[in-house]
Amino acid sequence: MSATVSSGAEPVGNEPVGSGPVGSGPVGVGLIGAGVISTQYLEVLTGFPDVRVLFIADLDLDRAAIQAAAFGVAGHGSVAELLARDDVEIVVNLTIPAAHVEVGLQVLEAGKHVWSEKPIALDRDSGQRLLAAAAERGLRAACAPDTFLGAGLQSAQRLIEGGALGRPVSALALMQSAGPERWHPNPEFLFGVGAGPLFDMGPYYLTALVQNFGPVARVSATASTARPSRTIGSGPRAGTVFPVAVPTQHNALIEFESGATAVLLLSFESAIGRTLLEITGTDAAAALPDPNGFSGATSVFDPASAEPTTAPDSGPAFGRGMGVLDLARSIRAGVPERASGALAYHVLDVMISISEAAASGERVEVASSVERPVAVPSDWDPAASTLGQGTLGAGTQKREV
Ligand SMILES: NC(=O)c1ccc[n+]([C@@H]2O[C@H](COP(=O)([O-])OP(=O)(O)OC[C@H]3O[C@@H](n4cnc5c(N)ncnc54)[C@H](O)[C@@H]3O)[C@@H](O)[C@H]2O)c1
Repeated sequence: MSATVSSGAEPVGNEPVGSGPVGSGPVGVGLIGAGVISTQYLEVLTGFPDVRVLFIADLDLDRAAIQAAAFGVAGHGSVAELLARDDVEIVVNLTIPAAHVEVGLQVLEAGKHVWSEKPIALDRDSGQRLLAAAAERGLRAACAPDTFLGAGLQSAQRLIEGGALGRPVSALALMQSAGPERWHPNPEFLFGVGAGPLFDMGPYYLTALVQNFGPVARVSATASTARPSRTIGSGPRAGTVFPVAVPTQHNALIEFESGATAVLLLSFESAIGRTLLEITGTDAAAALPDPNGFSGATSVFDPASAEPTTAPDSGPAFGRGMGVLDLARSIRAGVPERASGALAYHVLDVMISISEAAASGERVEVASSVERPVAVPSDWDPAASTLGQGTLGAGTQKREV
């Protein structure tokens, strides 16, 4: 279940909580960052009986108030007010990538566990600093994506582990789009350091690859930037032109510790919108669902059959927030969470290695390693109440899921 870093070169800790009270009842949750993605989290988290969303904070206090009103969350205000609350155990950090580590360290300093949106950090040093700060305090620094916990990728993992393809030997992963500036009202950060298609979309594809192949050993890559500026396409700032600071396409060759290989293309430059994740084994090949989604069938192509067989997904597919729930239950149980900081750090290390390989033209060894995440039990039920009633019930609206 765990994903603990095992590299000798760059050990970073996200070991399970070893001591201290784990509490009882539903886990109190606060959000920092009431922007675009907070709606998806709030829709999901306010429906889970095992967590209680108690407070929403943002630098923009009005934004926090609007989201709190929309989702029946009793508390809203500043980050300092959120961190002062004794009833909040997990803080969900939905700020922009450049703020992830700074905000995460503040959360840990306040004695709370942190769930971060991806990427966990912009560079290796600050990523390690965050995980070390959590380990020192016996707290957890978990991280998105949690798409790999959804029914789609979990069903595919179970199928592949069950031997449907033989031994997995290679993969092809593509994400092509014209770019998120057309729909995101504040898209500058998506073309800045810590984003671009590699750091913004790469976590979904690389986490799904590590889920099925285990850790990455080395990478080669090229990168390009088609246009030096972009134009905001929606919202009150539509028409605003802003500069592009990072490559908008990366092509990478990935070599796993197992000896398997993958081709990965991530682009914000293509008018052809396409997502694809194919895994080839010694006996058969499979087309998996979109790694940036929580559901979808897997098609298995057997050379002996004229037509592929479609394996529907089975299991829960609630959306963003499943990883926070798994973190909450894991804290109560004293076991490692699945979407761990160690897994996110390895994915970050791979993405940075891809950037370095593209810049230098050299093959880059990936120093960190991580255990392959073990599949979620097929009867895992996020909608179940497993932690009892506790004392947090009052003042929080629960939505039907
Ligand atoms: N938008 C998406 O579809 C999407 C999907 C998946 C993941 N994500 C990830 O979610 C994160 C947020 O993305 P978004 O699209 O919601 O961005 P956004 O710009 O819409 O919202 C970010 C919010 O964080 C607040 N904020 C920034 N720094 C802060 C700080 N130091 N303290 C308190 N509040 C702060 C901003 O005021 C803003 O309200 C990013 O890491 C992104 O990669 C976004």
